[in-house]
Amino acid sequence: MGPRLPRAAYGALLGALLACAEAHETGEPLSGNPSLFRWSLPAGVVPPPVPVDNPMSDAKVELGRRLFYDTRLSGNGAFACSSCHRQEFGFADAKNIPLGSTGQAHTRNSMGLTNVAYQRNFGWADPGTLSLEAQALIPELGELPVELGIKGREADVLARLRAEPVYQSLFPTSFGATPDPFTLTNVNRAIAAFERTLISANAPIDRFNRGDSTALNAAARRGLNAFNTLRCTRCHGGPNFSIAFEAGAPAGDEFANTGLYNIGGTGAYPTRNGGLFEHTRRPSDMGRMKIPTLRNIAVSFPYGHDGSVGSLDDVISNYARAGRLVPVGPNAGDGQLNPFKDRRISGFAISPQGRADLVAFLNALTDSTFLTDRRFANPWR
Ligand code: HEC
Ligand code: HEC
Repeated sequence: MGPRLPRAAYGALLGALLACAEAHETGEPLSGNPSLFRWSLPAGVVPPPVPVDNPMSDAKVELGRRLFYDTRLSGNGAFACSSCHRQEFGFADAKNIPLGSTGQAHTRNSMGLTNVAYQRNFGWADPGTLSLEAQALIPELGELPVELGIKGREADVLARLRAEPVYQSLFPTSFGATPDPFTLTNVNRAIAAFERTLISANAPIDRFNRGDSTALNAAARRGLNAFNTLRCTRCHGGPNFSIAFEAGAPAGDEFANTGLYNIGGTGAYPTRNGGLFEHTRRPSDMGRMKIPTLRNIAVSFPYGHDGSVGSLDDVISNYARAGRLVPVGPNAGDGQLNPFKDRRISGFAISPQGRADLVAFLNALTDSTFLTDRRFANPWR
């Protein structure tokens, strides 16, 4: 939650909104003021939390969508959020690791943004980035690596946005005309509002859970069974197939080391990709990454925090042998023996049929309506 703004500055309408948002802080679902914004969600789907100082509105969501797809929001005018977050791939990018606007390589795989707003923290292993508004600053201003490359060019970028007629109406409608609504803070509020609408709830698994027994074929139903029996749900549980999305989960539980590496038998992960360890410097946090959602997983390949796992079949092989074997090269080592591996990764035997079933189940988490929903598509075309 962002800082609270002085309530006196707002009219009765916003007062009501704040009260509504405060109710949310005590655990009640918040939908924003319905007269300002209407979530269109299937029955039973609770809207994500919304910070007190950034209420939803249609204008703001539209502004955020335009900014998300706008290459003017980068230092050299060549890149946008959408360069690395593409709708058809569940807002991931089908690359192992992306390059930023200046060609610098990231060390981690672009994350999908399906139902992103339901999470507590953002990034593969970043316990300190706690809002979407704050997260956007990382690609904008980050220098290690450069993503959008805006640092030092903020004024230029804002001047470009100011010159766009569509923005000349959307910024004041979203944030009021005075003081100057063209700020990076407002840019990020709008982008975050758009990201909060990226809600997927219409995959075959959702239709199955809503009572349509025909939504999953026999293989996917067997796969669902295996997913439960193999206890994938201990980490990928709940409606978003990740406990990182569960409001009640104890902080810290959303990170786990799955034994992808064990360089030289020391438990090490590759440089700059040590997961939670990069923040805490605690050896036992080595390799602990956020448990990602499995929604739209079939289209957000390749897999793992560094995109080093090529297919869902490879993912299953790694779990079956309780860690990945990297036979040769600078990262060689047997992840099965990683001393920091999560105890819940204990291996299992699985038949070819069992694998195919599990993959069929993971495919049933793909929501084609989300991937083609025109409300989430590039509005500049
Ligand atoms: C150069 C490619 C690139 C660009 C450009 C980019 N991202 Fe990302 N995004 C990534 C990568 C890589 C990660 C994982 C970062 C990490 O863990 O360090 C990520 C993570 C995220 C996350 C966290 C998701 C989660 O589930 O925790 C959000 C939200 C996000 N990006 C939104 C944005 C927005 C908004 C923009 C534009 C302002 C943007 N990204 C621009 C590559 C990119
Ligand atoms: C101990 C918690 C835990 C368990 C149990 C677990 N996972 Fe994961 N899963 C993770 C974490 C953490 C990652 C990311 C690891 C990384 O990239 O280093 C992940 C990644 C994945 C990915 C790739 C996601 C992506 O976006 O790249 C898939 C697919 C997956 N798991 C499926 C499964 C299946 C199927 C099972 C059961 C056989 C399972 N997981 C069991 C924690 C877990």
